[in-house]
Amino acid sequence: MALRAAADVKADFERRMGRPATVVARAPGRVNIIGEHTDYNEGFVFPMALEQCTWVAAAPRTDGQVRVVAAELNDEQQWPRGGWSKQGFPGWTNYVAGVETLVGALRPGAPGADVLIASDVPVGSGLSSSAALEVSTALAFAALGGVTLEGQPLADLARRAEHEYAHVPCGIMDQYVSVLARRAHAFLLDCRSRTWEHVPLQLGDAVVLVVNSGVRHALASGEYAVRQKQCQAAVAYFRQRNPAVRALRDVTSADVEAHRRQLESLVAARARHVTTEDERTRAAAAALRKGDLETLGRLLYASHESLRRDYEVSCPELDLLVDIVRGVPGAYGARMTGGGFGGCIVAIVKQTAVPAVTEAVRARYDAAGHGPSYAIVTQPGPGAALEFRA
Ligand code: GLA
Repeated sequence: MALRAAADVKADFERRMGRPATVVARAPGRVNIIGEHTDYNEGFVFPMALEQCTWVAAAPRTDGQVRVVAAELNDEQQWPRGGWSKQGFPGWTNYVAGVETLVGALRPGAPGADVLIASDVPVGSGLSSSAALEVSTALAFAALGGVTLEGQPLADLARRAEHEYAHVPCGIMDQYVSVLARRAHAFLLDCRSRTWEHVPLQLGDAVVLVVNSGVRHALASGEYAVRQKQCQAAVAYFRQRNPAVRALRDVTSADVEAHRRQLESLVAARARHVTTEDERTRAAAAALRKGDLETLGRLLYASHESLRRDYEVSCPELDLLVDIVRGVPGAYGARMTGGGFGGCIVAIVKQTAVPAVTEAVRARYDAAGHGPSYAIVTQPGPGAALEFRA
């Protein structure tokens, strides 16, 4: 499937709005290679940006109105600048209006806008379409308002919009990688210090394959917040013994094992996932640096098992997809990626094995009535950017 370019979005804007766009911005979705449900525990994550982006074209309006067309959704909404109220608007508007309000507050008196949103990031697939939407619209509104917004402040504003307007208590991974990623590199982020490293994604004869289960996930469903509370319960337990413990980042898997019987069993299982996942994430970055794909692959399988058994955020469809990949010669490893409960798996497989994987998925997954699934081979794309300014 051909991906959009800035010229396509500009032309689409002009066709729909009857005048040229003055800014065009884009922000990528992401796939998390490893480091799941560790960001809000102040641990490590290791995602990469996708080549698939959400694009925003916009032009100022003098009447103070904000009119937004969401091309993929065939929807359109309008509200007075800074005057959005949740009543009556569908879900996607929360993100856009949240960003519009937050960026508008940086420069009172910013103009209204006509906005077109067009996206190549699949929605509800655990590939961070929401972060891509927040970051791309933030870049466009900032450019229209003459506000400089980039790097960490841009990622932080996007995340604030998700918390305060979409009411999803997400961690920092998605917005940070969407803003700060580098082409051909994975992004190792320390979610406590908020420092990062771009690690070259050199996979030799292998590729990153993302397989979408076709099961839509919804983070707002409440399970995400429940996991956060269980992690906090584990932190409270360890802090009583050591006041220096501020997050599960400060606890090792050996600590969890040693205290397993004193912890409530679900809390122990959640803490075991988070602490072992942090250890796996650092090991995975080290393995990638050495080009050791066997180890990287094993870590992916172990991550999936931990998410399935201890964190309980997988689902039968994701488990089946991982199993299918495991059975194909030339596959190094696979795991569910993103928040869970649906969405995608990420797999590292030999390029020559891609047809065998997609055939096995068709035969064992789609033919069994799941899906429809689809697979994309993807490479690490660059972080968000303003692509055009008149
Ligand atoms: C979602 C959240 C992220 C992260 C992942 C799980 O994508 O937005 O912050 O917590 O789930 O790793």
